[in-house]
Amino acid sequence: MKKILIFSVFAIIAFSCADKKAKTPGVDGRKVFKQNCVVCHGLDGKLGANGSKDLTLSKMSLDERKAIVKNGKGAMVGLGAFLKPAEIQAVSEYTLKLK
Ligand code: HEC
Repeated sequence: MKKILIFSVFAIIAFSCADKKAKTPGVDGRKVFKQNCVVCHGLDGKLGANGSKDLTLSKMSLDERKAIVKNGKGAMVGLGAFLKPAEIQAVSEYTLKLK
């Protein structure tokens, strides 16, 4: 019985740590954008190279942006294999702030 209790406490701690990591990644979305997106989208998101869209005009939701960054679309390559989930989250949030 005691063992089960100890295990549960450990599991709860492990889970809450994992959760914290996802919510406060400490990733700089601007930096991720500079490293991975400017070649096509430009520093301000307006470049439109290689047929890419002007990100400042995009009406996409955060979740749609995350999906595109991860899986790609048309000429845009998916970056899911290169970026961590926290980086995808941060860079997608960053694109929402572009004006
Ligand atoms: C190889 C060039 C290229 C790179 C690198 C690139 N994109 Fe794109 N992106 C595109 C193209 C092309 C489209 C248009 C896709 C379509 O609609 O067919 C696009 C579309 C998008 C869209 C959807 C805009 C809309 O409203 O339709 C988002 C959001 C986006 N890119 C974000 C990013 C982010 C964030 C990064 C960096 C992690 C990135 N892209 C890197 C080429 C690129």
